[in-house]
Amino acid sequence: MAEAARVGQKSKNSFARARLVFPDGTSRVTVDRDPVPFYVERGMGSYLFDVDGRRFLDLGGNFTTLIHGHAFAPVVEALTRQLQRGSCFANPTESEIELAALLCGRIPRVDRVRFVNSGTEAVLFAIKAARAFTGRSKIAKLEGAYHGACDWAEVSLAATPENWGDPTAPLSTPYYRGMPTSVLNEVVVLRFNDVEGVHRLLSLDAHRLAAVLLDPMPSRGGLIAPKPEFIAAVQEIAGKNGILVIADEVLNLRQGFRGASARYGLVPDLLTMGKIIGGGLPIGAVGGREDVMKVFDASAGPPLLPQGGTFSANPLSMTAGLAAMRHLDHAAFAHLETLGNILRDGIGRAISTRHVPLCVTGAASLFRIHPMTHIPSDYREAYPAPGAAALMKQLSRFFAENGIILPHAAAASISTPMTRSDAEFIIDVFAGFLDSHQEMLDAIEASR
Ligand SMILES: Cc1ncc(COP(=O)(O)O)c(C=O)c1O
Repeated sequence: MAEAARVGQKSKNSFARARLVFPDGTSRVTVDRDPVPFYVERGMGSYLFDVDGRRFLDLGGNFTTLIHGHAFAPVVEALTRQLQRGSCFANPTESEIELAALLCGRIPRVDRVRFVNSGTEAVLFAIKAARAFTGRSKIAKLEGAYHGACDWAEVSLAATPENWGDPTAPLSTPYYRGMPTSVLNEVVVLRFNDVEGVHRLLSLDAHRLAAVLLDPMPSRGGLIAPKPEFIAAVQEIAGKNGILVIADEVLNLRQGFRGASARYGLVPDLLTMGKIIGGGLPIGAVGGREDVMKVFDASAGPPLLPQGGTFSANPLSMTAGLAAMRHLDHAAFAHLETLGNILRDGIGRAISTRHVPLCVTGAASLFRIHPMTHIPSDYREAYPAPGAAALMKQLSRFFAENGIILPHAAAASISTPMTRSDAEFIIDVFAGFLDSHQEMLDAIEASR
């Protein structure tokens, strides 16, 4: 379909203006553009409306943040009330205690919390906290796993077959030109679900490692389920060697009432949160074991780890987060789980009845479609061949043309206002894509 049908004239006009003030016309590398992004006029419930008057069912949810959809009434009401009382203060407000109490009450191992303004900051402070607690500097992380924009967490985020090295000894690869070698040297790279690698690589550096940073189901790494023996190996080697386990749940906290670690049997020492806990406003949080979180304690003099932040724990993020999280009760999670299962099953059936080289991964309210027959077990297996990557781009484009936002090369997410008929619509559009792209799918199959 011609580009004119994908992006309306008003969006094109806006993008032309934006190109005069932003290096590439946008303010985030993660903005989907094809090659022009569409500009949003407003969001309501499960839907986004663009400036050209088109409506989309939103499976992006601002990168999985909007678990209740757009303009969720309890959040709007709470924010309106708070805005009339001021937006930020240098003193604490009671709203921060309430949100912290909710998180400590719900999420296992979160005895204490500190709020920051983004998931990136949460990961940054979790790494620093692990360093301050252990007195060690190195961290281990998973190849291909995204944890925001903090240097150490970006190592090997975009590793490629050309630079990722031997499967038994993944190399630390830079994410941007000029990334300090000292940063690369501080990071041990592991492969997801590689039990033997965890034993060998963590043991090699055991007394220099402050933490293993681990997203239980890395979205950019493939949104692949962790093997129980992998989780057990991380836990065992870390525990034996005084290495802290940091569970990054900035994205995957949405997997259940008690989060993702609880779902997969991971018992972290520190846990990072963000996205859903802010109800649509910027937020991040580090939580964890009481003794580890003591590194932030400034009550008896300078703490082991000073942490501040002009907007940390601002009452707008706190009240929006509290309203959103209070409505995320067991019934809300059960609804998301049921709908997620219907979607993944329906997509899986559309694939298997047509014998096409695709598969679907994910859990709870998340899913991701891969251009390969077998469910990958890690980032390397999930890495698409060039032809397959083009197919996935076509898939997102086809969805957009049919009124659905499907994030490209990232997790798609559903929200509480979505219904069974939304799920059926998504499955129908997916089946329509398969039926209209047989040639491309055959080419992928032939190239395997
Ligand atoms: C697992 C994970 N950690 C950290 C981050 C960074 O969060 P933020 O974009 O709020 O900085 C993200 C963002 O997508 C994430 O998915």
